[in-house]
Amino acid sequence: MTFLKPKVLRFESLPSTNTKLARLAAEGAPEGVTIVADEQTAGRGRLQRAWSSPKGAGLYFSILLRPTIPQHCWPLITFMAALAVGDALREACELETDIKWPNDILSGERKICGILAEAIDTPAGRAVILGIGINLTQNAFPPELANLATSVSEATGRAPDREQILASLLNTLARWYPVLEVPGQIVDAWSNRSSYALGKLVQVSNGDDVWQGTTCGVEPDGALRLRTSSGEIKLVRAGDVYSIRPSYPQITQNESV
Ligand code: BTN
Repeated sequence: MTFLKPKVLRFESLPSTNTKLARLAAEGAPEGVTIVADEQTAGRGRLQRAWSSPKGAGLYFSILLRPTIPQHCWPLITFMAALAVGDALREACELETDIKWPNDILSGERKICGILAEAIDTPAGRAVILGIGINLTQNAFPPELANLATSVSEATGRAPDREQILASLLNTLARWYPVLEVPGQIVDAWSNRSSYALGKLVQVSNGDDVWQGTTCGVEPDGALRLRTSSGEIKLVRAGDVYSIRPSYPQITQNESV
């Protein structure tokens, strides 16, 4: 059984908590070392995007993992983190959230938290830097995020307590991390928590490919199963997933009943 013993190091300002922790990992830092910063000047998101990280507006957090599970199961680490964030927001803020594949945490249909897991080679073996950014307030959200992102403050109508959320997150990560040793439990729990797991009409864009279809579960390695209109099943392992609304045929007056 793998127990996680977090040890928190705090910084006022860093380019990126993931980058700082990768450096410490290369120098031999043990599993559980955690970095928290008040602001990031070069915060990073998935798919090489920037992660806006103004001072005091978010929880900017990275934890070092040295997983012993087989590497083909490592995509489930972000599923595990999404489950832990969902529990932490429920326990610390009484906030129920959804998970959009693979690991965006949503409140309503807007993003409240992003997760970036990066695998790196270190002298002590391959490791994972698990970075989590939770929007606490929308102070200084860039205008283009206004309709796409939300914050704990907006979702709960209360001022969030960063320390309480951090303490909950450390607890819930320690609770979920050992479950990775039973990958099926992570997949089942993720599928129960995510409205994207089953029956959601989505568009997936992955580089040049754009697919539309209805989600129909996840594979044991975390790939999203998508049934296209021709009945073909596509397995999605990377890319962006957007919920789309079905377009109903227009009913004219003569056709209505
Ligand atoms: C995403 O694109 O949704 C992932 C965003 C991850 C942001 C967090 S904030 C803490 C850590 N440090 C970073 O530079 N990125 C992650």
